[in-house]
Amino acid sequence: MVRPTAGPSEIGVPMDLEKLLADRLTPAFAAVAGAPVDPTVRRSAHADYQSDAALALARRLGRPPRAIAAEVLDRAALGDLCAAAEVSGPGFINLTVADRALGAAVVGLVGDPRLGVPRVAEPETVLIDYSAPNVAKEMHVGHLRSTIIGDATARLLRWRGHRVIRANHLGDWGTPFGMLIEHLLDLGEADGAAELSVGDLDSFYRAARAKFDADEGFRARSRLRVVALQAGDERTVRLWRLLVGRSEGYFLGVYRTLDVTLTERDFQGESRYQPMLGPVVEELGRLGLLRDSDGAACVFPPGSVGRDGEPLPLIVRKRDGGYGYPATDLAALRYRTGELGATRLLYVVGLPQRRHFEMVFAVAAAAGWLPATARAEHVGFGSVLGADGRMLRSRAGTPVKLADLLDEAVARATELARRKNPGLEAAEAAEVGRAVGIGAVKYADLATDRHRDYVFDWDRMLSLDGNTAPYLQYAYARIRSLFRRAGEDGLPATVEAVRVPLADPAERALVFALLGFAPVVVEVERTLEFHQLAGHLHRVAAAFSAFYERCPVLRAEGAVREGRLVLCGLTARVLRQGLDLLGIRTPERM
Ligand code: ARG
Repeated sequence: MVRPTAGPSEIGVPMDLEKLLADRLTPAFAAVAGAPVDPTVRRSAHADYQSDAALALARRLGRPPRAIAAEVLDRAALGDLCAAAEVSGPGFINLTVADRALGAAVVGLVGDPRLGVPRVAEPETVLIDYSAPNVAKEMHVGHLRSTIIGDATARLLRWRGHRVIRANHLGDWGTPFGMLIEHLLDLGEADGAAELSVGDLDSFYRAARAKFDADEGFRARSRLRVVALQAGDERTVRLWRLLVGRSEGYFLGVYRTLDVTLTERDFQGESRYQPMLGPVVEELGRLGLLRDSDGAACVFPPGSVGRDGEPLPLIVRKRDGGYGYPATDLAALRYRTGELGATRLLYVVGLPQRRHFEMVFAVAAAAGWLPATARAEHVGFGSVLGADGRMLRSRAGTPVKLADLLDEAVARATELARRKNPGLEAAEAAEVGRAVGIGAVKYADLATDRHRDYVFDWDRMLSLDGNTAPYLQYAYARIRSLFRRAGEDGLPATVEAVRVPLADPAERALVFALLGFAPVVVEVERTLEFHQLAGHLHRVAAAFSAFYERCPVLRAEGAVREGRLVLCGLTARVLRQGLDLLGIRTPERM
């Protein structure tokens, strides 16, 4: 039976063409193979869509692939969806979508505020551990990457309909706080706090460290101070809060500049797990998972071996009785699956900590804190490098201060906006500069495969052509200006009446790019590889440019003009939504 295609009577029902085609091929393949077969329908350079399933099946059935493909096509009911369906090459099935079906797909997209991306049927509670800078220390570019990737993750998962918990696992506890508090006291509380609030966190930390290294008396005081902090001594705790509060204020400023969704409510620092550390280690003991190694309590997770083949321990209690980073992460994990009910835990942390997380997850699984219904993933990423191929440094050779870096991005982009459009008012140029500068920094990060290192390069990230934020933002602004000139603010009101022109290959190519947005979003939800989304948005913008060059919009007439405006409007919506998922703004003019 031939099912009807979505027609103009089904406004707002997005059509997943890839899936529709697959649904038609599936029974035909099953009949030929005598068993279920995934028809693997994909976009292709040789046709609108292509299936290569006959090739794999040929080996299994011992029949020529072309004969299989031909028989599948004989049995498949594709008439209403395809203008052509043919066997090609060694046994590919090439499908050319009928204009009518393609037009119906566009109409479905136009009427769908979600652009074909459904909300998930079964929302999960997803906890995203990201940003996580350390108190009284400057945020470095590693924290920048974590913040950018983690925030895009939070935005995308929320948009899909999941419950998202943002956990900013602030480094706000540990032995350095003894020396930091003593240093604060030496400076005098007022002066010390003032020094911290100008945001020069590193110099405060370095000064404390220098004293600690040089001065035996200071060292002794610092150690006593840690003990007082752990014992909950009132004055010490107050000073600790002061340090943490000042740093949090500074980080929040960076988040505001960066336009990320993290707020003060999301700080879930290491300190909150202190009361749980003892019980966590006891529980590991009761479960028989602990082993003593030189006085330290360790777990040897199965499968964790070093390069020499020796089993690697996760140290949960040090020889001096203190608990460290691994114990804190175990307690946090247990709390997150147990108290918070998270079923997907994402740790957006640099690749050097990969081993740490592997071991933490293995121990948690062994202890039953990571049940089969939940999963933990280390969303690792590479480093940001300077032009010299080494870790990014300032001209003075010191680590780059994040706030300075972002200021520079905004300054450069404001300059760019002024040059590009001298007619912009100063206030608007500043606003555009902010959107473009911050957008460029974020996009340069998200557009690279996160597993790789990337070189921080101002000229490239601010370039108006290429796979950059300014290029995409400019494409969006250009469409908005087109609509202003058309005297229309959005899409034609009566979508039913729209006949989408598809005579030009550039129009078809643009439509396929627009339809491709939804599957990419769904895929990135799983892989958290945002460069796939960025790359797709870039393809959309490039397809739009090609379309715009060949197909006049405002100079066209009647239904063609209307239809082309629809394609322009959809392009703008996809670009805006896609960039919003990446945490990047789209100014209305540039
Ligand atoms: N504060 C740590 C650092 O700067 C990152 C923490 C990452 N999150 C975690 N749950 N361990 O390296």
